[in-house]
Amino acid sequence: RHLRLREVRRARGPASRTGGGADRLRALMLGPPGSGKGTQGSRLATRHGVPHLSTGELLRAHVGQGTALGRVAEEAMSHGDLIADDLVIAIVLEEVLGPNAVGGFVLDGFPRTVPQAIAAYEMARRHDVTLHVVFLLEIPEDQLVTRLKDRGQLSGRSDDTPETIRHRIDVYVEQTSPLIDYYKGRDILVAIDATGTIDEVAASI
Ligand code: AP5
Ligand code: MG
Repeated sequence: RHLRLREVRRARGPASRTGGGADRLRALMLGPPGSGKGTQGSRLATRHGVPHLSTGELLRAHVGQGTALGRVAEEAMSHGDLIADDLVIAIVLEEVLGPNAVGGFVLDGFPRTVPQAIAAYEMARRHDVTLHVVFLLEIPEDQLVTRLKDRGQLSGRSDDTPETIRHRIDVYVEQTSPLIDYYKGRDILVAIDATGTIDEVAASI
């Protein structure tokens, strides 16, 4: 069966990489605030014809629309704190396994804690949609701060103020960076130098 699938793929040419379901890219962008998860995640997703799922963007949309979830998330987000694991797990599982799911995705901002990663893995294994690869975007802290302060002056994201940027980086170190060892243990972590231009980082990925 595998051989036949491979032959079909070869006959169809490179376009089939984005067709079908089972072989679609399932990737996670991991990295501190400002490392480029959104910028690179969206490019990677477009290239592979899969959705880019940013929990930060999903949550900001809920806040903007004033939904029940948005009202719960708003305060934590504006302070740079994480929102409760069970809330984010529910919204991501709906996107990844719900009726509109396409079998592939680029996740950005989820999982962000070890409990989220374990819950996601258990569920993904049951549905045969575990991650193929985790890209760890590596960049020194001073560059993150510069990027986010610059963005804060343009975008008005409520968490791009100097104090909140500092706190978001601390939260990353304490709660999210343990995922580096978790994904190394699963042998799917690929470290990327995220200090170059957007095109250079995309090329490395
Ligand atoms: P989220 O939206 O995920 O924010 P973040 O992790 O703080 O990261 P950013 O979105 O700020 O940065 P990024 O890595 O995407 O970089 P970007 O491409 O934008 O989360 C926000 C909040 O939501 C959290 O604090 C939490 O409250 C909540 N939340 C989200 N997920 C959660 C979860 N799973 N559990 C609990 N709570 C959750 O780039 C940054 C800037 O740099 C941009 O201006 C960009 O143009 C620029 N840039 C990018 N690449 C380059 C480059 N190569 N050179 C120069 N500039 C660049
Ligand atoms: Mg982002």
